[in-house]
Amino acid sequence: MPDNSHDIETHDYDVVVIGAGGAGLRAAIEARELGQRTALVCKSLLGKAHTVMAEGGAAAAMGNVWSEDNWKVHFRDTMRGGKMLNNWRMAQLHAQESPDRIYELERWGALFDRTKDGRILQRDFGGHRYARLAHVGDRTGLELIRTLQQRAITLDIDVFMECKILRLLKDAEGAVSTAVGYWRPTGEMVSFTARAFVLATGSIGKSWLYTSNSWESTGDGHAMAAWAGADMIDMECVQFHPTGMVWPLSVRGILVTEGVRGDGGVLRNSEGRRFMFDYIPPMFAAETADSEEEGDRWYDDHLNNRRPPELLPRDEVARSINSEVKAGRGGPHGGVFLDIATRRSADEIRRRLPSMYHQFKELAGVDITAQPMEVGPTCHYMMGGVRVDAETEQTTVPGLFAAGEVAGGMHGANRLGGNSLSDLLVFGRRAGMAAAQFAQGRTRAPAVDGAEVAAVVAEAEAPFGRDGGESPYDLQSAIQQMMQQLVGIIRTEDELRRALGELDSLSERAQKMSVSGGRAYNPGWNLATDLPSMLTTSRLVAKGALERRESRGGHTREDYPKPDPELGKVNLVQRIDGDGNYTLEPEPLLEMPAELKELFEEEPH
Ligand code: FUM
Repeated sequence: MPDNSHDIETHDYDVVVIGAGGAGLRAAIEARELGQRTALVCKSLLGKAHTVMAEGGAAAAMGNVWSEDNWKVHFRDTMRGGKMLNNWRMAQLHAQESPDRIYELERWGALFDRTKDGRILQRDFGGHRYARLAHVGDRTGLELIRTLQQRAITLDIDVFMECKILRLLKDAEGAVSTAVGYWRPTGEMVSFTARAFVLATGSIGKSWLYTSNSWESTGDGHAMAAWAGADMIDMECVQFHPTGMVWPLSVRGILVTEGVRGDGGVLRNSEGRRFMFDYIPPMFAAETADSEEEGDRWYDDHLNNRRPPELLPRDEVARSINSEVKAGRGGPHGGVFLDIATRRSADEIRRRLPSMYHQFKELAGVDITAQPMEVGPTCHYMMGGVRVDAETEQTTVPGLFAAGEVAGGMHGANRLGGNSLSDLLVFGRRAGMAAAQFAQGRTRAPAVDGAEVAAVVAEAEAPFGRDGGESPYDLQSAIQQMMQQLVGIIRTEDELRRALGELDSLSERAQKMSVSGGRAYNPGWNLATDLPSMLTTSRLVAKGALERRESRGGHTREDYPKPDPELGKVNLVQRIDGDGNYTLEPEPLLEMPAELKELFEEEPH
């Protein structure tokens, strides 16, 4: 019999959404509109989500700038960008439904930039055949969050801010029934029971030293799903965005939007050479310009010219920058140069890229209307994640749904820029809908086992009971240094084995860490509760990276520099059992139907 004697604050809902970025907000809106008592729980303040770091736009084949665009071209671009490892059905639904989600956002008040005739303006981004990104200057993610937030607060959704969820607990039938966490301001414990849960917790990027992610992105949702027994797929596929700031060191990793290249910015090395022409991969040779003149003409005429190599998919550009720097052709701070001033007037730059203008001016003292920016790769996005059903975003654990960055499959081995904002709208809505349906069908009140709740509380509070242990800050720093060095943009077997060894010892050290002070407003303790997720997700990434003995998308193995056709047919599926043992199995990708396969034989219009 479960022990129901726990005595912490408890809330009960039909649907609880964990994470309040774009996917979480969109899921909560849908569940609430379907009549469910819905809670939105977030670790940070509402409105502060990594979604805002998708600056340049949301990809959707609306055809406002190029009428030739349609969902089939978008689907094909997405699959090729993901090196065909994507869940094809997710990529298809995404390409088909994105335009409706953008128009819906517009109806809800989003103020997109406009074409001369008043339609939503779309800009170019890497890997997209046509200008396809609906945008609001270079603050699109922010506008998306603002709009969804406005919508959510009119719908009577209960929002719980600064609440960190630690664990998901299951009922006797194995369905998730409870989320246990604590209030960051007070340190008091809290639990939420619900008939369905949606994970929308975003990324794991804070485990690397140089990242566009902010403090929240510690992989909580990825880890909680894995601890609850969910299948995790392709965890080795981590995206390094080609352009982050490299200087000053205090801001290293902050994003420099791909919108700069989309709007005509070019990359040069320390010799002033547009080096991307040296790195055009065979897969994209037919559609990539091989001279500056042709690349320049593309902005005016996409149909009769090939796109410049700066607009290759992100994995290609990030690797090329890495190679130039390694070859000694980098800038003074270890980056390369991104120049928008040559193509665009100062007025245009300030209008189209206002955040970039201010960011460089304020943080680096660089005027991008006159000078190039020094940039280099930064950990930005997690393609791997919780395995979900394409239609419903149901994970392999009953009662648990996942949407946005925490879910795997949609982007394969590499995400195209701009596809994340539309992903979280499309699949956030679908997850909210399916969670609502699941909740309606789950009539019995979910049982809570008080002993399990007590165990979660005891584990979280344990660092207070130890004296003289290591500080969580030292451990966080050790994880970040190690992942940057050993599980970074280029990987080798030897380094990955060393990383796994280091993770063993870091996990042991974490068992002994201690924190001092009270539980209220204690950032050291808050970080201590993030470390288990960082360690688990880092291990999943390193294990997947060791096993995928090939280079594909964001996963590059120096010792296996080419894609392996056999590995291109499988997802690497990892699981953690009840005793904490990890397993990894290759499992075949879903078979793509013949009518979609045909799209890869000839270019669709
Ligand atoms: O570069 C950017 O603006 C980021 C966009 C994205 O990650 O989709």
